[in-house]
This record gives sequence, structure tokens and C-alpha cells, in this order.
Amino acid sequence: MHTLMRESIAGEFGIEPLIERRRTTDLHLIRQPADSPLLSIVVPTFNERDNAPKLVQLLSAALLAIPWEVIFVDDDSPDGTAEVVRQLASVDPRVRCIHRIGRRGLSSACIEGVMASSAPYIAVMDGDLQHDETVLPRMFEALHQGGMELAVGSRYVDGGGIGEWDSKRAFISRFATRLSHLVVPPSLKDPMSGFFMVRRDVFLDRVRLLSALGFKILLDLFASGRDRTPIRFIEIPYQFRNRQAGVSKLDNQAAWDYVMLLLDKLIGRWVPVRFLAFAFIGGLGLVVHLAVLTGLFKGSQLDFNVAQTAATVTAMVFNFSVNNLLTYRDRRLSGWGWGRGLASFMLACSVGAFANVGIANYVFGRNGQWVLAACAGIVVGAVWNYAVTSFYTWGSARK
Ligand code: GDD
Ligand code: MN
Repeated sequence: MHTLMRESIAGEFGIEPLIERRRTTDLHLIRQPADSPLLSIVVPTFNERDNAPKLVQLLSAALLAIPWEVIFVDDDSPDGTAEVVRQLASVDPRVRCIHRIGRRGLSSACIEGVMASSAPYIAVMDGDLQHDETVLPRMFEALHQGGMELAVGSRYVDGGGIGEWDSKRAFISRFATRLSHLVVPPSLKDPMSGFFMVRRDVFLDRVRLLSALGFKILLDLFASGRDRTPIRFIEIPYQFRNRQAGVSKLDNQAAWDYVMLLLDKLIGRWVPVRFLAFAFIGGLGLVVHLAVLTGLFKGSQLDFNVAQTAATVTAMVFNFSVNNLLTYRDRRLSGWGWGRGLASFMLACSVGAFANVGIANYVFGRNGQWVLAACAGIVVGAVWNYAVTSFYTWGSARK
């Protein structure tokens, strides 16, 4: 890129053009191995265009003594965050951008960022300036000199705090923290923190065990490989700041994601949690079916066949929509993709219904136990529906 252009972009974001400094002082610097980062800061972003430049400035000021880089992992934010990050990167080689298309998810974004780093130490922090970057040098010291494997930025140890959260959010956070102790050591006071630094080798050692579901990557890391030597960690207090620009992405569905993560850690090695979610929603679908059937057949006195058909279609649309919203939230279909998804879902489930009846008939014919036969049919139908729709309906990331 033309130097003048670089300078004007740099000026716009209030960043000193690093390239210039290198040219006028010491070109040799660029080739020094010491120049490669010791610390990568992975920052997941979704609609943080106003925060990204500011964050780079703050990191720059906080990390004077440590060679670092920042890796933004952006899920194709509609506000153009990725483009802003690329502009920053064009004037500052410490800035990198991973731009993901057709994917959503904070945890999976963090993992992808970590996997793109070659630095021995990796921090994960939010891109909305709520995490206190001035704590990073202390975290670094704890790992680099202090023999720790992981340092948690903690709101729940002395000196830490949750800032100006309302009492409802504070209560939810504490409740969720208590629940998390089902899968992480109780000595960890802030397992819900999204701010931490870890040795890369420790992360890589466990990366294949991660669930990568939802928001809680730190909890995931601690809860994965519980049969291994526990991670040596320290908690370093910080005050959670208020968001200045943009909005939080933690919505009601985050609670669902959190429960899925806990379930995956507890029983995921035996049953895939997506299947559990799918089966649970299938159960709700049955309730919807019966309600519609009762209304139309008993209430409106419609022909049974008509009522049953209407109930089946309603239940299928219900099941598809709710699965699209929750079970496959990370691959959610919209627009035309939604319609195509619904069609393939209904087709797959119709075949599943045949399989269900076929198997049930077969079992009933062999031993005459109708409850057993019905259950066998339901299980086979559900597994079929799950397997086929996970592949055809929600299979590829782009629809
Ligand atoms: N790439 C990507 N994809 N980034 C995302 C996504 C996503 O789907 N959703 C959120 N982010 C980014 C946001 O842009 C922000 O940089 C960061 O992840 C945190 O998201 P917020 O929406 O600001 O969440 P929060 O402030 O409510 O929650 C934070 O605080 C919790 C503490 O209770 C997060 O840091 C949590 O991880 C943390 O546990
Ligand atoms: Mn936030």
C-alpha cells in the first residue's frame, strides 16, 4: 500500500505509523527473531467497529515491554468490523484479522484465533474494552516467570468487581458460576471470565477435548480433560468496565448455550448434546401436535385426517424453527436458506416417520409388546431425523 495512504489511515485511528519508524531508524529490526510476538491477544468480535481501533491503542500503551500481536476473529460483522481491522493491520503489522463467513460463536472464534498464533503465550479478551488491558503484563509475568500455566482475569477475587451491573445480571452471573462448579474446580472463583492468558502448549494439549459451544471458553478449557493434571492457575483481579460503544451479544439464548456446554462436559462423551437438544425439542413438538389435533378434531370438529395432517405440519414447522433457533444456532439458516431448510427437514422427517412405523410394526409382530414396539420406532425415527437433518438441513456452513 502507498505510504501516504498508510499514514492517513494511521492518522485517522490515532496510531503512530510503525512502518515509518522502522524505515527511519533500523530496518534490521524487522528481521530480528525477537520481533516475533511472545504474546498473541485473541479478540473475538461481532459488531465492534468503533471499539477495535481504541483497543489497539490501549494494548499498545499497556504492553510496552512485551512483543505482542493482536488477532481479531470477526464473524462477518454487518457493521464492517473486519474491514476496520484490516485497515488497522495495513499500518500496524501487530494487528491481524481472521474473517469468518457463515459462522457464529464466541468460543469457536477464540479457538480459531489461538490456532492461528505461534506465540508461546496467548491472551483472550473481549473487543468491547470491558476487560482491563493493564492487567495483561501481570498475567504475562505470572506465566513467563511465575511458573503458572494460566492466569484468569477475575471479577470474584479481592480487588476485582463487576462494575455497574444491575442486580439481575449480577445474580445470574453468580448463579451460573455456582452451577459451573459441577465441572470446574471450586477453587476457581471466576470460571465465567472471558479474559485470561494461557501457555499455548497447555491450550493445544486440550484443544481436541473442547466443546467449543457458546460463550464460555475458559470454563470449557478447565472442564476438558479433567482426568489430566490440573491446570496451574492464578486469578488476577480486575474491574469489569462498562461498554462504551456497541451492544452486548449475550441474549436469552446464551443461557441455553451455557446449559448445553455443561451437559456436554457432563455426559457429552456418551451422547452428543445436539442430539439431546433435538430429542427434547422433538418432545415439545409432540405436545404441539397433540394440542393442535385436540383443537381441530375435538374443538372445531374437523375430519380426523385433516386435523391430523394439520397437526403434523404444524409440529414439523415448530420443530424446524426451534432447532434452527437453538440446536443449530451456530449454523442458523435465514432468508431463502430457511425455506430450503424447512423443505429438506420435512422430507427427512417424513421418511423418519415411515422408518418409525416400520420398525414398530416389526418389533410388535415379533413379540407383541406394543409399548416396546412404539419406543423402538420412536428411537429409530429420532436418530434418523437427527442424523439426516444434521447433514442435509444444517450440514454445510453456507446456505
Ligand atoms: N467472533 C465472534 N462471534 N465474536 C463474538 C460473538 C460471536 O458470535 N458474540 C460476541 N462476540 C464478541 C463481542 O464482540 C465482544 O468482543 C466479546 O465477544 C464479548 O461479547 P459481549 O456481547 O460484549 O458479551 P458480554 O459483555 O455480555 O459478556 C462478556 O462478559 C462475560 C462475563 O460475564 C464475555 O466476555 C463473556 O465471555 C464473559 O464471560
Ligand atoms: Mn461485553
